[in-house]
Formats: sequence, C-alpha cells, structure tokens
Amino acid sequence: MTSISLKVLLCLAVAGFPILQITTAGDPDILVDYIAPDKVDGDFFTFTGFRTLTHPPPPTFTVTKASMKEFPVLLGQSVSYAALQFPAGSINPPHTHPRSSELLLLVEGTLQVGFVDTTNKLFTSTLKTGDMFLFPKGLVHFQHNAANNFPALALSAFGSANPGTVSIPSTLFNSSIDDNVLALAFRTDVATIRTLKKGFSSK
Ligand SMILES: *[C@@H]1O[C@H](CO)[C@@H](O)[C@H](O)[C@H]1NC(C)=O
Repeated sequence: MTSISLKVLLCLAVAGFPILQITTAGDPDILVDYIAPDKVDGDFFTFTGFRTLTHPPPPTFTVTKASMKEFPVLLGQSVSYAALQFPAGSINPPHTHPRSSELLLLVEGTLQVGFVDTTNKLFTSTLKTGDMFLFPKGLVHFQHNAANNFPALALSAFGSANPGTVSIPSTLFNSSIDDNVLALAFRTDVATIRTLKKGFSSK
C-alpha cells in the first residue's frame, strides 16, 4: 500500500468516525415523518397514560412507561418517557437501560441517585425538586427516596423509543442461572444463593 492510499484511508476513517457516532446516538432513522396506520388524527400523537400520576401515589415504587409499546407513535422517533413514583423510603433497584441514556427530572420530593461507571467508580447525588441527573447509557444505576414522610415523583427522558430495562437483582436471582455459577460469582455458597432467590419466588 502506498503512503497516499494510507493517508486517504486514514482521512476516511477519521471523517467517518463522527458519522458513526451520530448514527449510533439514537434509534435508527426512519425515511418517513412518522410511522402510523392509515387515517390517524391528533389522538395518535397524544399519550394520556400519565393522567393517573395526579391520583394518590401507589404504596410501592411504580414505573409508568411511555415508550413505543405504550405509545406506538414513538417508533422511529428516538425519544420516550418514564414516570417514577417513589413512596417514602422506597427504591428503584440497580438496573441498566441497554439502548439509551436517561435524563431524570425530579418533579416532587427529594431523591438519592447514583450510577457506577465501567471503571467501577460510583457517582451519587441528592436531588431536590427541580434538579436533573444524567445516567449514562448502559451503566448500572439506582434511585432511593430516603425521606420518611414524603413521596417523590420523577420524569425520565430517554434517547430511544425503547430504552429497555435490565434489573440487576432479578436478572441474577429471578432467572434460571445455575446456583453453582452464582455461588462462585458471588464468592459464597449455594445456600446463600437460594436464600436470595427465595425473595423473588415468594412474590
Ligand atoms: C420472577 O419471575 C417470574 C417469572 O418471570 C415473574 O412472574 C415474577 O414476577 C418475578 N418476580 C419478581 C419479584 O420480580
């Protein structure tokens, strides 16, 4: 290979890099304005599933999603929402979203949040009403309403119509991964693993 063609190749590679980043930042682009059945009206573009958020908060931590499953117009638009309702003392257990970062806006209450990056460094913050926090794409994160008496309400925006959720506790202890594999992974014994698994089956 001549040095000219090497240079050309390098230029192409460098020029292509930002394009690659842009195309992988959200869902694949669609070649139409929106994806919809024939003869839709404004209702197709309207989501009403968050009206219930104004009702008394639920007794346990509750996620209400507005992703493409619940709101089909989002397919191809690279955006979605989730509403997170935290009764006093409740948590959203450690989890990841494989296809999107998450921008959380705390609408009511206070909230302790955190994520762990790929070097195992923990980043935490205590949010007050009106604050936002960014959970980078794919990283393990959690939220905790540590207040004794007050609920918290957060709205999370995603850069995907289908961010997906992998819950760490249930992925590990409520799937069918072999007890021995888990015992070795957690440097413990099978009995301890079975105790952890019991917490999921009884519910
Ligand atoms: C455990 O998995 C079963 C089967 O997928 C599911 O029905 C159940 O809700 C899960 N339990 C918890 C506590 O997530």
